[in-house]
Amino acid sequence: MTSLVLIGTGLIGREHARLILSHPETELVAICDPSSESQHLAASLGVPHYAEWDAMLDQVKPDGAIIALPNQLHEPVALSCISRNIACLIEKPIAETLPAAWRITLAAEQSGTPVLVGHQRRHSPDIRAAKQTIEAGDLGPLVAVNGMTLFDKPNDYFNAEWRTKAGGGVLLINLIHDIDVLRYLVGEIDSIRAFTSSASRGFEVEDTASLAIKFENGTLGTFIISDSAVSPWAWEYTSGQALYHPTQPGACLFLAGRKAALSVSDMYMWRHAHEHEHWQHPLVREHRAPERSLTYVNQLDHFIQVIHRKVAPLISARDGMSTLAATLAVSRAGREDRAISITGLLNESRPS
Ligand SMILES: NC(=O)c1ccc[n+]([C@@H]2O[C@H](COP(=O)([O-])OP(=O)(O)OC[C@H]3O[C@@H](n4cnc5c(N)ncnc54)[C@H](O)[C@@H]3O)[C@@H](O)[C@H]2O)c1
Repeated sequence: MTSLVLIGTGLIGREHARLILSHPETELVAICDPSSESQHLAASLGVPHYAEWDAMLDQVKPDGAIIALPNQLHEPVALSCISRNIACLIEKPIAETLPAAWRITLAAEQSGTPVLVGHQRRHSPDIRAAKQTIEAGDLGPLVAVNGMTLFDKPNDYFNAEWRTKAGGGVLLINLIHDIDVLRYLVGEIDSIRAFTSSASRGFEVEDTASLAIKFENGTLGTFIISDSAVSPWAWEYTSGQALYHPTQPGACLFLAGRKAALSVSDMYMWRHAHEHEHWQHPLVREHRAPERSLTYVNQLDHFIQVIHRKVAPLISARDGMSTLAATLAVSRAGREDRAISITGLLNESRPS
């Protein structure tokens, strides 16, 4: 059995508790969250409860920790785990700022403590199938990609004020997942241009953004996101894998290469029927049905392997930091009306 503690038992933390308890190879040995709801949760689950994470880590000495806290607390808790060589799964974003992400990354790398960042889509059947298709060379070199996350959040979602202010908003809450998938499937992002808007909701943070993306390998991409547009075009719907959303079959991401194109999540591949054909000949369509596993269970399976040092984290701290940098580049690109280099952002935020 792998012993786990959970730090933060809010919206996503409760889901982690449920997953740990239902997994045959994990044991939830304690939870930490100062709220009264968390005390009730601990009592109902029959697990020890702590209000302070350092005390819990010292007394319980778990194999691994899941950090599901407000973003600004990711850094101190991650550093507490790393200083004790306790492997951790940090919910996304790895941290609220790039300097904080650097401190986690450098501490993890110097101590050799594995850190997995909770970009769960990389563990999903559709993204796994897309990755395999690309790596097998079936699409040829990618030329152009295009994606969408367009959904309409309820007004009471924004009663939690942090979601309306810097550190919240659709970019850091949602776009960060899309950026991570694009980096995973297409490659490292060189630079981003963007238009951003907060006109629909009127908050200080953006509710809508359109991106032009240049990847280091030369692929070009576009992406559009809004939390105030009614549509079924978002991974949360098309994948059927999200925790709190209905399934609306369809596609939200389109990948076009020199040999073929693939839409995700419906997983249709389009290619020429024969060599030397071109745009005046009909394409043939194949369905690349993904396997039927569950994203969050896959993530936990992977974390168990990471804890026991059997595999390296699929999304390391450094990887999560690059995803954060590219996401932060979007609001800056919109504000400053220019292309933002991701390497430039990472270099200027690195602690001296
Ligand atoms: N991967 C995903 O799909 C996904 C989904 C939702 C949230 N998240 C991420 O998970 C994290 C948590 O988000 P959430 O929506 O569950 O937030 P939340 O506000 O619902 O829960 C946060 C919890 O942390 C607790 N907390 C606050 N200070 C604490 C402290 N000092 N020690 C211990 N506990 C403390 C709060 O009492 C609360 O229960 C965020 O980083 C968010 O971005 C990821």
